[in-house]
Amino acid sequence: MGKMRANVFHGVNDIRVEEVQRPHAGVGEAVIRVTLTTICGTDLHIVRGEYPVKPGLIIGHEPVGVIEELGLGVTGYEIGERVLVGAITPCGQCRACLSGHHSQCGHGTGFEAIGGWRFGNTLNGAQAEYLLVPYAQANLAKIPDELSDDQVVLLADIASTGFSGAESGGVRIGDSVAVFAQGPIGLCATAGAKLMGASLVVGIDGDETRLGMAKRMGADVVLDYRGVDVVAEIKRLTGGGVDVAIEALGTQQTFENALRCLRPGGTLSSLGVYSGKLQMPYDAFAAGLGDHRIVTTLCPGGKERMRRLMETVRRGRIDLRPLLTHTFALDQIAEGFGIFGDRRDGVLKVAIRP
Ligand SMILES: NC(=O)c1ccc[n+]([C@@H]2O[C@H](COP(=O)([O-])OP(=O)(O)OC[C@H]3O[C@@H](n4cnc5c(N)ncnc54)[C@H](O)[C@@H]3O)[C@@H](O)[C@H]2O)c1
Ligand SMILES: [Zn+2]
Ligand SMILES: [Zn+2]
Repeated sequence: MGKMRANVFHGVNDIRVEEVQRPHAGVGEAVIRVTLTTICGTDLHIVRGEYPVKPGLIIGHEPVGVIEELGLGVTGYEIGERVLVGAITPCGQCRACLSGHHSQCGHGTGFEAIGGWRFGNTLNGAQAEYLLVPYAQANLAKIPDELSDDQVVLLADIASTGFSGAESGGVRIGDSVAVFAQGPIGLCATAGAKLMGASLVVGIDGDETRLGMAKRMGADVVLDYRGVDVVAEIKRLTGGGVDVAIEALGTQQTFENALRCLRPGGTLSSLGVYSGKLQMPYDAFAAGLGDHRIVTTLCPGGKERMRRLMETVRRGRIDLRPLLTHTFALDQIAEGFGIFGDRRDGVLKVAIRP
């Protein structure tokens, strides 16, 4: 058994890059040599103890790599091919997958809430030299030769999630859309709303750099929630409320603001991860009689999702490279966590090169 370097979670605020066993591909699995990955906001939740995972787990869930081993039954791929693997790895065969709910995959049987998210959650993740990919046939997406690793790495999670906020919200040509929070997820939701044909996209945040980036990603108007009554301003801009409000933070305030700035019959598309209780004041949703829709989405994964997203990059519809603000080697990942966690130095996303 060979060894590899990997970023291992040992407990709250205790991650260490160390030597661990290298994985090998069993039936239906593949091993990739990771060439680029990133640190996600969710990894911060894990390290801070806000989202529990087992000590000893390698974290990270945004992998780009080269096929190193193919297990029995995985066909149509060659060793050495470059692949992108989504953060969510559906089996493609369970009731959830075959009903179109890939992210709630039940691993060959029924439905399991958040069951599709396995890397760096219930299985070893991508902040390592090598990564074991489960259900490889459903999850290895070949990268077109003309695309570089840094052009596609953010499609695994951030862009797939952000775009899905606009897709699940059912944004239509001509819609007005408000996106609450312009972190990496919200910025991609902003880009997604624009891609889907919104005629007005309003990006809300309290960070100058991020509001600037929101404009670059497609926002027509940006609002700083620290100095503006955002609900009143959005109602003024839209003559009564937006068609779709996307929540991309996971707090009472942003959820409530998203609800309050919706027109009757509008859709609140929620992406944030919440904790504790979420309250719904009756006046914010017309006492339940406003024909509102509230939808939630976990990042869509699987190789077809990745193929489609890579095509949007290849055809020049989107360029996510401006969001990759910092790069570190795997051995320097602690420094990356520091900058990312403190939101220092204009950071948006940190790339890691194992
Ligand atoms: N649904 C999914 O599949 C999925 C996937 C990944 C992450 N997430 C979740 O998405 C959320 C956003 O992730 P991220 O990495 O973009 O977050 P982030 O922490 O990088 O960014 C959050 C942003 O919110 C802004 N903000 C704070 N208070 C605000 C307010 N009151 N109004 C408007 N903006 C405000 C901050 O300035 C910051 O720019 C998190 O809850 C994360 O856990 C969901
Ligand atoms: Zn993530
Ligand atoms: Zn499944």
